Amino acid sequence: MQPDDIGTEQMARCPFPLARSAGPLSPPPEYEAMRSEAGPQRVRLWNGETAWAFTRWQEVRELLSSPHFSAVPSTPGYPTLSPARASALEAYQSFITMDPPDHGFYRRMITKEFTFKRMQELRPRVQAVLDDLLDKMEAVGQPADLVTALAGPLPSIVISLMLGVPAQYHRDMEAFGAQKNDITADPSVPAEAARQMGIIIDQILREREANPGNGEDLLSRLVIDQILPGHLPHQAAISMVSLLYLAGHETTTNQITLGIVTLLRNPDQLAKLKEQPDTVSRAVDEMLRFNSIVQYNSARVATADVEIGGHLIRKGEGVYALITAANHDPAVYPHPECFDVERDASNHMAFSFGIHQCLGQSLARMELEVVFGTVFKRFPELKLAAAFEALDFKNEQLVHGLRSLPVTW
Ligand code: HEM
Repeated sequence: MQPDDIGTEQMARCPFPLARSAGPLSPPPEYEAMRSEAGPQRVRLWNGETAWAFTRWQEVRELLSSPHFSAVPSTPGYPTLSPARASALEAYQSFITMDPPDHGFYRRMITKEFTFKRMQELRPRVQAVLDDLLDKMEAVGQPADLVTALAGPLPSIVISLMLGVPAQYHRDMEAFGAQKNDITADPSVPAEAARQMGIIIDQILREREANPGNGEDLLSRLVIDQILPGHLPHQAAISMVSLLYLAGHETTTNQITLGIVTLLRNPDQLAKLKEQPDTVSRAVDEMLRFNSIVQYNSARVATADVEIGGHLIRKGEGVYALITAANHDPAVYPHPECFDVERDASNHMAFSFGIHQCLGQSLARMELEVVFGTVFKRFPELKLAAAFEALDFKNEQLVHGLRSLPVTW
């Protein structure tokens, strides 16, 4: 069956995005039904337009590696989730929403900053930041909010250290980042947040352009190697640094908090991790698969008539490659609803796939390994200080997570 045969009745039944109505740690239950249909499903968007939603692992992978889709929001047919998301995309462009050759031109400038080797060199500093945050959390006493005590500040401090951004900007950048990614806000909110972030980064970059330093951090190297020789215009550098800052903290923050909750909800799995701490990297992969926090980023539009998994997508049609659904495809992960730290989930797509695959994945993995290798050793009796049902999840956001996480130990 071709997508067009599915019909308008089905379209009307599938408003998008879908709610996590089976619980905050489960994908929307409709994904399972959608996956069992013959192909992608047409979903209805806020503005009356439609897009194809892909839910099978194989097809999501095929779509994300196809050269016949554009990530540029101004391409006719590009799908958006809400007025706020449309406004955020209009207010702020960076290489995550570019196609070749521009995308590769910018990405290559900083690829070497995120190698596995660089991240291993950074690991002791991340451990020191984490230990310090846990010391402070213990000193302040229980109950503590794990988001404000640990999951929020850690990635924010680490990306700031890498970039060489002064500590005074952390809080503002975190707040603007959250507003920019709020898909339920008034459209003026993400636009203004993007503008405010731009003002801060502009100021930081101007100071660095005047005093570039000796290449001791990422911004210094960016100024010396790219901006001053004229390869990277100042305005493009603002977008690049905003992307690194944004992508570098909100994602990891939410992955940490959801990982902690998931382990606390699955004490048998937490016990296995405690017994075999050297398996932390496999457990981290399972957390990435199970929670798949980047729920809706992979929007694309077809630039030619193209077949994905034998289904025709026509030029100008919008698509969503639903990573969360793909990572719960039973054809690849038997009993996907079971959180199993012994599962080999290393082929998950939580970091996407293809040319836009997460540039910061070595950094994110390393931070997660440090956190999950430390927290339960340091606080073996860590537990929720509120009923699970009372936790404040960000189900409806671009990046899934928790607003706060009260714990005792
Ligand atoms: C658990 C943490 C993280 C997750 C789950 C995650 C997930 C993702 C996903 C799904 C994409 C692709 C979006 C798309 O296809 O449109 C992406 C792109 C990206 N991520 Fe991450 N990310 C994480 C952490 C980080 C960190 C720490 C950084 C560091 C700066 C980072 C930097 C980037 C960048 C620069 C891109 C754009 C890549 C491109 O377009 O070429 N991410 N990430």
